[in-house]
Amino acid sequence: MWGARWSVIGGAWSEAMFGAQTMADRRSARAHAHGASNLGHMSTSAANNEYAAAAEAIAALDEGTKVAVVSGASSGIGEATARTLAEQGFHVVVGARRFERVSALAEEIGGTAAPLDVTNTDQVAALAEALGRVDVLVNNAGGAKGQSSIMDADIEQWRWMWETNVLGTLHMLRALMPKLIASGDGLVVTITSVAALEAYDNGSGYTTAKTAESVLHRTLRGEFLGEPVRFTEIVPGLVETEFSLVRFEGDAEKAAKPYQGLQPLVAEDVAEVVGFVASRPAHVNLDRIDIKPRAQHSAQRAYRE
Ligand SMILES: NC(=O)c1ccc[n+]([C@@H]2O[C@H](COP(=O)([O-])OP(=O)(O)OC[C@H]3O[C@@H](n4cnc5c(N)ncnc54)[C@H](OP(=O)(O)O)[C@@H]3O)[C@@H](O)[C@H]2O)c1
Repeated sequence: MWGARWSVIGGAWSEAMFGAQTMADRRSARAHAHGASNLGHMSTSAANNEYAAAAEAIAALDEGTKVAVVSGASSGIGEATARTLAEQGFHVVVGARRFERVSALAEEIGGTAAPLDVTNTDQVAALAEALGRVDVLVNNAGGAKGQSSIMDADIEQWRWMWETNVLGTLHMLRALMPKLIASGDGLVVTITSVAALEAYDNGSGYTTAKTAESVLHRTLRGEFLGEPVRFTEIVPGLVETEFSLVRFEGDAEKAAKPYQGLQPLVAEDVAEVVGFVASRPAHVNLDRIDIKPRAQHSAQRAYRE
């Protein structure tokens, strides 16, 4: 099945499939670190083939198999969360712009890969339409770009942060909510940040976006009260992932700094918490869970050796 699908998609993806994956990954990581779109090499028709394949895969599942959708599953917290949910028996739909990465992950965990840019409403709609069933949505896609005062801020970086963290989450929620409700026991997990709890200097593009994402998520908890859907916000502190590399456009030295002198969380620490949330019975709603390294007190205060 995979062979057939890859041959439809062609060049770049076949290369990853047939042995040059490391090179493709490196190229993708470089493009990613420099903020380039990774959707460039996937045409709409190739993406549509993937959604059609996803529809078939979900339709073929046993009636009792629950489906979880994880956005931003190509690295870090999303990737680890997909593995955890798959271990718990969910069929996991893994979405991201770096499709070669989610394809490899889907193959490993027995899930389904989807090309997904959460800021692209056509893609979000096509994915939602393809999925006959959705029990869990993990709004994880997101991140930060740059660090500067409001007066010096780069508006494009702000736009990226707001479009990805806020509007991306909004698009996913609106598209998938009917299916979450129809499941009879839907669950929405949104990964915000300690940046949603605190305003700090030189971080306003990210703090405002994560605050807005948090308020969006919490508003739905009220608006859907009485419906069979639960809402959990997970609020991580320092987690060592690609987050910082993306924020500093691939500058490894700058990216390493936030994690120096303390032991940060790893993606699996957060993923285990998502797994715990997803394994609670239907009447239990964990509203908000804050998770930080022991050495981190708050967004701005940490004990460093
Ligand atoms: N690391 C931390 O310290 C930390 C702390 C608090 C909160 N968080 C939050 O945790 C979440 C996950 O971050 P992470 O630490 O795991 O960082 P990461 O390793 O950089 O992962 C970010 C993920 O988001 C995806 N993504 C970015 N833009 C996207 C878009 N437009 N459409 C679809 N997917 C997109 C990326 O995939 P593609 O590039 O392939 O699309 C990637 O899979 C983010 O919301 C972040 O804000 C992180």
